[in-house]
Formats: sequence, C-alpha cells, structure tokens
Amino acid sequence: MSRFNPQVIRYESLPSTNTEAARLAAQGATEGLCVVADEQTAGRGRLQRSWISPKGAGLYFSALLRPSMPQNQWSLITFMAALAVSDALRDACELKTDIKWPNDLLAGERKICGILAEAIETEKGRAVVVGIGINLTKEAFPPKLNELAISVEEATAKRPEPEVLLAVLLRAFSSWYSLLQETGGQQRILEAWASRSSFAKGKRVKVINGNEVVIGITGGVESDGALRVETETVGVRIIRAGDVTSLRTSV
Ligand code: BTN
Repeated sequence: MSRFNPQVIRYESLPSTNTEAARLAAQGATEGLCVVADEQTAGRGRLQRSWISPKGAGLYFSALLRPSMPQNQWSLITFMAALAVSDALRDACELKTDIKWPNDLLAGERKICGILAEAIETEKGRAVVVGIGINLTKEAFPPKLNELAISVEEATAKRPEPEVLLAVLLRAFSSWYSLLQETGGQQRILEAWASRSSFAKGKRVKVINGNEVVIGITGGVESDGALRVETETVGVRIIRAGDVTSLRTSV
C-alpha cells in the first residue's frame, strides 16, 4: 500500500496548483507532494471550466498520488477526496456539508468546494493530481455566483484559519487514502460517501453531459462510483460524467 506523507510546497502565486504538481511529478516528485498557492491566475475546474482564485480568498491545494491499486479503481480517488474535505470542514470549521455527485461540497445547497482529479503520465508511471479549491471568503467568487456558491466565512459566520484547515485536511486525506487501498476499502469509501450525500439515492436530478440531458431519480452508485439514475422514459441510466443539478419535486 502506498502511504501519503504530505510534503507541502507553498507559493505566493501560480497559474494552477494542479499544473505545478504535474510539472514536479514529471521531474520525479514522490507521492505526498502538496502544492499550495495564495492565488491562482489560471485555476482550472471540471468540464474545462476556470476556477477563479483571488489572493487569500480560497484554499488552493493539489496533492500528488502514485496509487499502487489497479487503475480501474482510480475513479474512487475523487470520492475519497470529497470525504476528506467533508471531514476537514466538519472538524476545523464545525461545518456540515452535503456532497453532490461526484465530488462538489455544498453548504446550504451552494457550492463551497470543488475537486479536480487529473491522471498524468510521468517517467515513474501513471500518477494522479488531486486539486482542491475551498471558498474561504466571499471574495473567492464573483457576486453573480452568490446564489450558487458560498464561502466558509459566510456559512459559519467565522473567518477560517487556512493553515488549520489545511492541516486537518491533510490528516483526513491521508487516512481516507489509506482506507481506499485496503481490501474492502473501496466499498467502505462508497458507503461513507453515500451516507454524506443527499444526491446518492432518491433525489430528482437533471444531468447534463454535452448535448445529452438525463432527468430522473438517483438510485445509488456503481462500484466504480458511476451514478444510477432511474428515468421515466428509458429505464436506468448509468452516469459516468456530467453536471448534476437537483430538481425540486412538484407537489
Ligand atoms: C470544479 O469544481 O470544477 C473543480 C475545481 C477545482 C479547483 C482546484 S483549486 C486547486 C487546484 N488547481 C486548479 O487549477 N484547480 C484545482
């Protein structure tokens, strides 16, 4: 089993902590490398989106993993990362969050954290960079996103201590990553994820993936983390990519 021993490198400013972690991985960096920046000038999100990252307003963090487990289980890395952030926000900020499939953290139905896991090729073999962005203050996102996004400061009425949050996050990340690699660990990760996600079962959702739109009720996750959606028209659809939104059930 590979162990995650964090070695943190800090920067004032970077285009993207994920890009920097990938660059260092290509030079042979070992598992546990963590890149943290006060600001990102070209932060990246899922589905080719950008991640606005003003100075001091968010925690911008990337970790390098060189997992020894079979690659068909790597899709669960984002689920374990979401659990680590969920623990960290609970333990460092006393904040209970929901997890939207696959790995957005929500507080009061608004996004507080996004996770971008990217597989990369290096001379030492395939690796994964897990990037985590947590909104610490309201300056983390533009006012036009006020209905969709929230910061730790707004959700808890307290200014978070980024260093404390990072330290708690690193501990939680290490421990969930160890569990992921244990026999039966994948199943336990998925169970823990489902117990913290209102999206796992019985939620009416709309999933958009490119031109395709699926509407239905969620019915749990497959062993690789894919989301089952029971539609009224075409039966059960297995969702492996896309943007999920909650739809209110009409009465
Ligand atoms: C998403 O929800 O779309 C994922 C956002 C991930 C943002 C983080 S911030 C740190 C790391 N560096 C990046 O460029 N992106 C991730």
